Amino acid sequence: MTRQFHRGSILHFPKATIAPSDNYQYLHDGMLVVEDGLVQHLGDAQDYLSNNPEVQAAVIQHHGLIIPGLIDSHVHYPQVEIIASYGKQLLDWLNTYTFPAEQQFVEAAYARAQAEFFLQQLFAHGTTTASVYATVHPQSVSSFFEAAESYNARMICGKVLMDRNCPTALQDSAESGYRESKQLLEQWHKNGRQLYAITPRFAPTSSEAQLAKAGQLAKEHPDSFIQTHLSENPTEVQWINELFPDYSDYLAVYEAHDLVRERSLFGHGIHLTDREYLALASSGATINFCPSSNLFLGSGLFNYQRAQANGVAVALASDVGGGTSLSMFANQADAYKVCQLQQASLSPFDSLYLCTQGAAVAMGIERQVGNLNVGSEADFIELDMHPTPMLSQRLNKASSLSEKLFAINTLGDDRVINATYLAGKQVYKKGQHYVATAV
Ligand code: GUN
Ligand code: ZN
Repeated sequence: MTRQFHRGSILHFPKATIAPSDNYQYLHDGMLVVEDGLVQHLGDAQDYLSNNPEVQAAVIQHHGLIIPGLIDSHVHYPQVEIIASYGKQLLDWLNTYTFPAEQQFVEAAYARAQAEFFLQQLFAHGTTTASVYATVHPQSVSSFFEAAESYNARMICGKVLMDRNCPTALQDSAESGYRESKQLLEQWHKNGRQLYAITPRFAPTSSEAQLAKAGQLAKEHPDSFIQTHLSENPTEVQWINELFPDYSDYLAVYEAHDLVRERSLFGHGIHLTDREYLALASSGATINFCPSSNLFLGSGLFNYQRAQANGVAVALASDVGGGTSLSMFANQADAYKVCQLQQASLSPFDSLYLCTQGAAVAMGIERQVGNLNVGSEADFIELDMHPTPMLSQRLNKASSLSEKLFAINTLGDDRVINATYLAGKQVYKKGQHYVATAV
């Protein structure tokens, strides 16, 4: 039995609710006790120490703010190398930059090296759980899971399914895609901290036969995740109308193939009809709000208020390499600006919720991650409250927690991450080499 005692200011959202919440718990001088990788106690530090004076010598004092590890609900690890590629919208961007990059992942060694780089970057940006697209190559998924397992990180990943409208080198078939996905799912889903997502890239690159096989697999494994893209770009939506003329709208294509349910994660969801909002809400599926990607690729403004009003679960996401930062702080800053452009508000607590507990609740993993409740896995980060002269001055002038949090959300990036812990083990410390944590 190993126990750690982390003392410092602590902020998290303890409650499981689909609606974003300022229902937070803030401990100015808190004590987070971790035992065997799980949160064993969270409370006031002085109370804890007066009841347990013998642990005093073992206490780790944190000077920054402790919050749960951040969750990125939609990201492509093979696209980290093409982040910030110039001048295209979605379909041209896929053909020009994305598909060529993804072909390199046929090499398992290349995939493993990129998975390592990606994970180390995630931890350096304070992200401890992500829902990750690999490529069409099964070895890109095993390489990713092997790397994630070596850090004991809770990750979701899946093999991309594509059997048309992309380079031949990136195509599988309805049958091989099903078989390889099933094999990976059976090997990795709930293996340690790993979780599997059935991953048809998006309807234009899958035949109806392939979507049907993906839906079959989802029915055979109802506790698996499903991840895909939905209504991101107007030209894409128009293409759906041409490719699937018998369906009333984009979501109807996925519904007809049993791909819309709880734990279905739909990237973007910008250009949706009223019917699609209602169908998403009643299914329990989630929209991944990808603000930096939606701006960078010129896709449009996600209507967060409308999703909220319709009761659709929303989780924040980077969507790198369409997105321009792995930092969930940078993405909160963009989310705020997207809401501003639609005369809507996004409070600093709401946006932090969307990449911690809110994301976990939307994805059904709140008993494991997203909060610091007793029994949850001890994935947490310490924020540096003096990361840059600009932010340091701004934080010194801020009078309330809300004001401080908004400044961090707006100005923050990887520089605000002081340390990252997975199941109580430090995997990143600012200014030091990455801490390898073979389990
Ligand atoms: N739609 C289909 N594939 C992709 C992708 O890789 N990135 C984004 N942003 N949208 C997609
Ligand atoms: Zn994406």
